[in-house]
Amino acid sequence: MYTSIHIPLSLFLLISSVGVILAVPTWEGMNGRSSIGSLIPGVSHIQAMGPVATGGMMKHLALHRPGELGNITVAPLNRVAPPLFYINQEQLWLLVNETAVYPVNVHNSTSFHELPMQLVLGKKREGITNGIWRWKATMLYYDLPGGKSNTGLFYQCMLESGAYNVFMTPIASRPPSGCQIMTLHSFVRNNLKN
Ligand SMILES: *[C@@H]1O[C@H](CO)[C@@H](O)[C@H](O)[C@H]1NC(C)=O
Ligand SMILES: *[C@@H]1O[C@H](CO)[C@@H](O)[C@H](O)[C@H]1NC(C)=O
Ligand SMILES: *[C@@H]1O[C@H](CO)[C@@H](O)[C@H](O)[C@H]1NC(C)=O
Repeated sequence: MYTSIHIPLSLFLLISSVGVILAVPTWEGMNGRSSIGSLIPGVSHIQAMGPVATGGMMKHLALHRPGELGNITVAPLNRVAPPLFYINQEQLWLLVNETAVYPVNVHNSTSFHELPMQLVLGKKREGITNGIWRWKATMLYYDLPGGKSNTGLFYQCMLESGAYNVFMTPIASRPPSGCQIMTLHSFVRNNLKN
């Protein structure tokens, strides 16, 4: 992008001092996300498809407040890059950086919502932990024992907070009021082999 003649001296000195980092061939992202992601197979953004993402607006799995643990939501691309996810040992994780990964937990939401399972990012695994996450081609699935599955369907639902949250159910159902159906996708090469 830059030719050396255009690099001011101060920037040149800075680049020289971080030369080791710049030498990593996968260094691409603003903050190194790409180089981190490339170390773990299958790391990617998760894109929502269906009525939630019509009108040419791409939406991704995200947090209400970027960088803060809490409910999972679906958000359009904004200035903050959407978070990265991957599946390891049948658990879905959000990758923060080299040292921090957080589990996407499944909370029992039967006490307050028609749909029985809500996605919440936690510090450790909790809630319903006997299910498994998997990719089938590009699509994300959550299976429970006894042959139950969300069949790849997720729901974006507006709660009383006025914010969208993500739910699912092992019993196929029409979207309850305030909810829209969607599927979730990862388009990295590694997952396509499954
Ligand atoms: C990684 O992210 C965690 C959680 O946000 C933070 O506490 C930690 O300082 C970060 N580590 C690095 C190496 O950036
Ligand atoms: C969720 O909680 C309800 C009520 O406590 C319980 O009947 C149901 O089995 C729970 N669902 C799961 C998947 O654990
Ligand atoms: C997060 O989910 C809880 C229920 O699990 C809900 O009470 C709360 O309002 C949600 N937060 C937002 C910002 O919607």
